[in-house]
Amino acid sequence: MRILESKIDEIRTAADIVDIISAYVQLKKRGKNFVGLCPFHSEKTPSFTVSSEKQIYKCFGCGASGNVFNFLMEFKNISFIEAVQEIAEQLGISVKYEKAPLAEQEYEVEELYEINLSAAKFFSDFLLKSNEGEIAREYLKKRNIKPQTQKIFGLGYAPNGWDNFLQFAKSNKINLQKAKLLGLIDTNERGEYYDKFRDRIIFPIFSPNGRVIAFGGRILESKENAAKYLNSPESQVYIKRRSLYGLYHSKEEIRKLDKAILVEGYFDLISLYQNGIKNVVASSGTSLTEEQVQLLSRFTKNIIVLFDADTAGQKASLRSIEILLKYDFDVKVVSLPSGEDPDSFVQNAGKGKFEEMISSAKNFLEYQALQYELAGMFEEPSEQTKAIRELVKTLSFINDELKRNLFIKSIAKKFNLREKLIETELNQILQMQKQKPSTVKQIPSERGVSGNNISFKIISKSNPYEKEMIRLIYSGNEEIVRFILENVDYNDFESHEYRKLASIVVENLNENKISPSVLIEKIEDDNLKDFVIKLLFEDEQISKKWDELSFNGKIEKDTLLYAENVVRGYKIFQIDEKIKLNNKLIEQASDEKDKINLLKKNKELLEAKRILNNKNSS
Ligand code: CTP
Ligand code: MN
Repeated sequence: MRILESKIDEIRTAADIVDIISAYVQLKKRGKNFVGLCPFHSEKTPSFTVSSEKQIYKCFGCGASGNVFNFLMEFKNISFIEAVQEIAEQLGISVKYEKAPLAEQEYEVEELYEINLSAAKFFSDFLLKSNEGEIAREYLKKRNIKPQTQKIFGLGYAPNGWDNFLQFAKSNKINLQKAKLLGLIDTNERGEYYDKFRDRIIFPIFSPNGRVIAFGGRILESKENAAKYLNSPESQVYIKRRSLYGLYHSKEEIRKLDKAILVEGYFDLISLYQNGIKNVVASSGTSLTEEQVQLLSRFTKNIIVLFDADTAGQKASLRSIEILLKYDFDVKVVSLPSGEDPDSFVQNAGKGKFEEMISSAKNFLEYQALQYELAGMFEEPSEQTKAIRELVKTLSFINDELKRNLFIKSIAKKFNLREKLIETELNQILQMQKQKPSTVKQIPSERGVSGNNISFKIISKSNPYEKEMIRLIYSGNEEIVRFILENVDYNDFESHEYRKLASIVVENLNENKISPSVLIEKIEDDNLKDFVIKLLFEDEQISKKWDELSFNGKIEKDTLLYAENVVRGYKIFQIDEKIKLNNKLIEQASDEKDKINLLKKNKELLEAKRILNNKNSS
């Protein structure tokens, strides 16, 4: 059952975000917006902002943002449909349901989730209730994981034997082919099914919304030919590089404390949680991925990396730092005493000692320098140069120039070097990244989108007017939206993200769905959605810059005249870039004919520019 789209529109239009939020947050008028203390993180001065005009909210402290439905979903931890229903009730609108069948694909995915859920129940029942489960209960007791904690994380036990789950699946009419896709069973050479997880402690892996998407299984005692952990393969519901173990359980706390601790293992996370440290996520062994970092950036931008004290752990820490910096995280690192992992440390030393250690976390640069120092790299000049280069390379991942400069100062001070020297080194690295975009680690479609700002790792000179046009087409003013989309081909935008955002507006323009609160619901990528909301709240700041950038006149913003100026600015910028490119080609051209052709083209371009400029003054 689902609610008709038109009904949802009706409810969204009828609801006033200021009214609804006022029931939970004390709001005060400030300028054209309302502000209050953010209900999603603790703060003393209000940074939670609600726009009555655009019907959206954003907290400038923790980054929470969305429309009226998003607010209720987050505040009450309810689903979209529940939020729609609740608001409908308040407004006295009766909700009609549509008996639309799920699309084929949705059905399939639903079935996979259901199979995983049944499997999780099956494993959990074995752990909690069966005789066979005694050995697993003993094991967890030995590792100090309390029954209550086991329940919170849905831990289970896959009994020894080849067909325990298989029989269960058969008697519950579970589609065996799908169970195989999920890695719960497999087939042997004779085509017979058998259980994949045998005699292992089971850790269900949850999506951020709490659905079971995969399993990790730990062997009870180390055996020679068996891996310590067996994990589900990727499937339609499980994409490893996009999932973070424990996030479902820790996201509230992470948002509240505005800080996350990153560990490697399942047991590390569970142990910390049991000891009251609940803002933890686990990368599950492999090195952190960009997608995981993006996911986490929805909840905080502050992270403490706490990997095992072995060399693998240290290497993984260094790799993670780069990715985290790229997404504008504030990164600290903690080194554990040798031989310890977070699980053993918190169990041996206790919560107090653990927190002490966390509060003494070093910033990533100090940590990295210390690693090199311990490796003896500072005893020999040639090694020292290498070490400093590596440190500077790490800095090159920071997008914020100001931040970068502060770290340059600290390296200079630490190694008694001239700042200029380090700057030169850094610029060389940045220059190299610029020249060889193909070797930049990100693929273009993924470059540097991060929670609160889209930053371009590839330092290309992108058209500054694109961003302003995105803001305008999300502003809800139909005349302006149509004007821009009729006069500019968004497929020409240099940024993939902007093209995507523009295409969403185009898709909804036919049905005249152009208000910001509707449009943001259509943006699937959370980071892009955050980006747009931030942009919409930023309009005042932008305009100040805008005056300097283009016209020194005081043009009232968000009028058609203003939009015309933006579009003109965009086109002129494009022309200037083409001319510059042509000039370069002219310099390099050896053939006179080519040169003449290029000069001709430039003349045409200049003429086009002149016409555009004339329109401006008329
Ligand atoms: N891991 C894995 N496959 C392996 C080894 C490890 O998937 N063969 C992942 C698991 O998610 C594991 C994490 O890497 O939790 C960290 O590995 P490790 O430190 O070896 O294990 P612990 O979690 O510390 O487990 P334990 O304390 O039981 O040894
Ligand atoms: Mn461990």
